[in-house]
Amino acid sequence: MRIMKNNKYNKKPTSLHCNDAGGGCRYSLLTIIIWTVVGFFLVVHLVSLYSRKDNNIHDDVSSSDQLQVVHQHQHQHLHLHHPVVHQLVRVEEEILRMPPPRKRSPRTSKRRSRKPIPLVEEFLDDKSPIRHLFFPGLKTAAFGPTKDMGNETSYYFPGKIWMDTEGNPIQAHGGGILLDEKSNTYYWYGEYKDGPTYHAHKRGPARVDIIGVGCYSSKDLWTWKNEGIVLGAEETNKTHDLHKSNVLERPKVIYSEKTQKYVMWMHIDDANYTKASVGVAISDNPTGPFEYLYSKRPHGFDSRDMTVFKDDDGVAYLIYSSEVNSVLHIGPLTEDYLDVTPVMKRVMVGQHREAPSIFKHQKVYYMVTSWCTGWAPNEALAHAAESIMGPWEKLGNPCIGGNKVFRLTTFFAQSTYVIPLPGVPGAFIFMADRWNPADLRDSRYVWLPLVIGGPADQPLEYNFGFPMWSRVSIYWHSKWRLP
Ligand SMILES: *[C@@H]1O[C@H](CO)[C@@H](O)[C@H](O)[C@H]1NC(C)=O
Ligand SMILES: *[C@@H]1O[C@H](CO)[C@@H](O)[C@H](O)[C@H]1NC(C)=O
Ligand SMILES: *[C@@H]1O[C@H](CO)[C@@H](O)[C@H](O)[C@H]1NC(C)=O
Repeated sequence: MRIMKNNKYNKKPTSLHCNDAGGGCRYSLLTIIIWTVVGFFLVVHLVSLYSRKDNNIHDDVSSSDQLQVVHQHQHQHLHLHHPVVHQLVRVEEEILRMPPPRKRSPRTSKRRSRKPIPLVEEFLDDKSPIRHLFFPGLKTAAFGPTKDMGNETSYYFPGKIWMDTEGNPIQAHGGGILLDEKSNTYYWYGEYKDGPTYHAHKRGPARVDIIGVGCYSSKDLWTWKNEGIVLGAEETNKTHDLHKSNVLERPKVIYSEKTQKYVMWMHIDDANYTKASVGVAISDNPTGPFEYLYSKRPHGFDSRDMTVFKDDDGVAYLIYSSEVNSVLHIGPLTEDYLDVTPVMKRVMVGQHREAPSIFKHQKVYYMVTSWCTGWAPNEALAHAAESIMGPWEKLGNPCIGGNKVFRLTTFFAQSTYVIPLPGVPGAFIFMADRWNPADLRDSRYVWLPLVIGGPADQPLEYNFGFPMWSRVSIYWHSKWRLP
């Protein structure tokens, strides 16, 4: 999948010329300098063309010759020879057959997508005859440590129902992962949504009352033990941010070495999404209980989808969709991680990106975002930056395999977090939510391997093509496991 719409950035600096109409400057020092510069850029361009030659393989993943190239390509970058790692970058096709045309339920026809892809319409229609393809049922498609899975134990099945160690579906939507270095344990925090979905008022968005933030612990990223609700809703006080009638989304937890506290940041809103704030909570233990501190509009701006990222040097950042989701704002937190500082940069201005997830590899920052289309899935984009404060460059759609609609809908899911794959530099787990707006508690998890390697397939916006960012690739698998 390539995105061609930014061809304007492909322009080369060919318009350098002498402005002296008389031509008297033909042999001037300036001309020599200019031609030297032009020559330099020509060489740079040729080198970059050459190194991008095998880039077009992502246009069409149906030919096995081309698949071969993908494999070699990734291996050169990862230096991986483990047979299971080889599986991670295998390109897998998925064929979804459309049902015959039929009358739509009135619910679907009201949806706002402008030019709906028919399969997205099917996805959003809770009466669709192919609904089981997106939301396979509990009896046939649950996986987890309580199921006898034989040789498929420890396999991920993106989109199927994932059970915890007690055999209950995991409730950690819009989540993020904390690796607690003290106990060498992973903690997965997310929205606990095990309640009925309804509309708070006519035409309002589908919602579930706040129940709280769910927490699950694991040593292997597959077997998850329910640690309970670590930050619960407020039942009675109607003016409290966490009153059940409000909205709590995308909780993320980071650990402060300085204060030895676990700090949770989350999106706090009212049912109409007009409060648009961030909330902060704190705990002495990863499994809570978290004490809710306050909410605010960071830097005085509206804040909806958000995440936090803790860098290697211990500085943590808040990244949030702002100015009615048209811009991402990014800024460092205070040393105790309990507030933002006055420093803030506006990035990806006017690009309408949400669901940001940030990760880092070899000193380069990467981000995967979605476009803003409510609960409907859309095309993901990967971005890269040398400084987390920007400028951020667009790398293109990271999704590979599945089918065209899968790639245009992030596998019918939306990014929420990216975890470094233990022991495999350059490899990550991409965590996404397949939202089910008809029954939000039944939203599914789509975890897939994400690999950084190979040249990016978009012309770059800055630096005349320097540096050569690596491609971010997310590979579809109907089932896979960690190396
Ligand atoms: C598990 O075993 C079954 C039966 O032997 C086989 O068909 C299947 O391919 C195996 N699955 C994996 C993931 O190895
Ligand atoms: C209700 O919550 C608000 C906001 O957090 C707080 O100021 C107020 O004291 C609370 N009222 C009660 C009765 O706890
Ligand atoms: C949301 O908007 C509706 C209609 O505009 C209004 O009736 C309702 O009171 C609002 N709710 C909140 C929580 O602001």
